Amino acid sequence: MRVIGVQEYGGPEALAAHEVPEPHAGPGQVRIAVAAAAVNPTDTNAREGAYGESELPPPHVPGMDAAGVVDEVGEPTAELDTSRRHVGDEVMAIALPQRGHGGAYVQYLVADADSLATIPAGRSLVEASTLPMNGLTALQALDKLGLEPGQVLAVTGAAGTLGGYVVELAKDRGLTVIADAADKDRDRVLGFGADHVVPRGDDVAARIREIYPDGVDGLVDAAVQNELALPAVRSGGGFATVRRWPGVEGSDVTVHSVWVFDDYHRGDRLDDLRRAVEDGVLTLAVADTLPAEQAADAHRRLAQGGTRGRLVLTF
Ligand SMILES: NC(=O)c1ccc[n+]([C@@H]2O[C@H](COP(=O)([O-])OP(=O)(O)OC[C@H]3O[C@@H](n4cnc5c(N)ncnc54)[C@H](OP(=O)(O)O)[C@@H]3O)[C@@H](O)[C@H]2O)c1
Repeated sequence: MRVIGVQEYGGPEALAAHEVPEPHAGPGQVRIAVAAAAVNPTDTNAREGAYGESELPPPHVPGMDAAGVVDEVGEPTAELDTSRRHVGDEVMAIALPQRGHGGAYVQYLVADADSLATIPAGRSLVEASTLPMNGLTALQALDKLGLEPGQVLAVTGAAGTLGGYVVELAKDRGLTVIADAADKDRDRVLGFGADHVVPRGDDVAARIREIYPDGVDGLVDAAVQNELALPAVRSGGGFATVRRWPGVEGSDVTVHSVWVFDDYHRGDRLDDLRRAVEDGVLTLAVADTLPAEQAADAHRRLAQGGTRGRLVLTF
């Protein structure tokens, strides 16, 4: 089968099409004929080898989001129930580059039965591919912060895919949301349902404190501003880092590390995310689609910044 990956870690130019043996669904697994794989910032890390040595042989295949059509169903096992899946089902899945069944930039993705869900009704496979990884991340961040309805959440990087999902899911949980945006993204972020939008930038914490002088109850730092964003949080509040920032010594803000790799087996949550799209809670946004062979261009475009919605590779 055709995969897009790197023989040696490197820049976008290292990405190329490779032929590898076709995988098949074993017990507890299904095989997905991938139609769409979203391109996420983390894919650039996988491409560069920033996650350390892979458990899998080269070519190293990035990609954590896939959507496609089930074309093989393995026998059910005690832990992994495949009986609900049928050939022809349209599904979305989270994938793990470097281990397990490998990344999502592949023609056929073998997936554990609990790492996927049916795509949202009325949505395309391309749209659905933008949901699994960042949706699971947004849920994990909100759960770790554990805010109650009426409490105040700040979100940096709110114009991005993760930030947008966090804003929308937080509003659905009854939180008050203050988010950042450049002028050009203000309407986009208000459209996600943010109650307040402050200008983005290094002074984001001061901008948030202008509206909440005592600080907010929690913050999801999707812009990875770390110590610049931390002062927005009140004493005793929570800070969700998506890049394993350790926090500041002596601070009484609890830093929660959000790591979506831990949620590979949360097909149940993918199903919650499906429902959230169908209920109009979550908005799926596709910036552009490119043939998978143009993955290097997609990585370059993502690295330039300014992409709104997800770039999606099609197979
Ligand atoms: N730990 C995990 O499990 C996990 C899971 C998912 C995502 N992540 C991480 O979460 C981050 C966000 O992911 P994403 O997919 O949402 O990326 P994205 O779509 O590129 O969104 C990031 C947003 O932040 C904005 N931004 C960049 N620098 C900023 C700054 N200094 N102040 C305010 N906004 C800024 C970007 O704007 P411009 O485009 O204008 O630069 C963009 O709108 C990434 O670092 C990703 O790797 C981690």
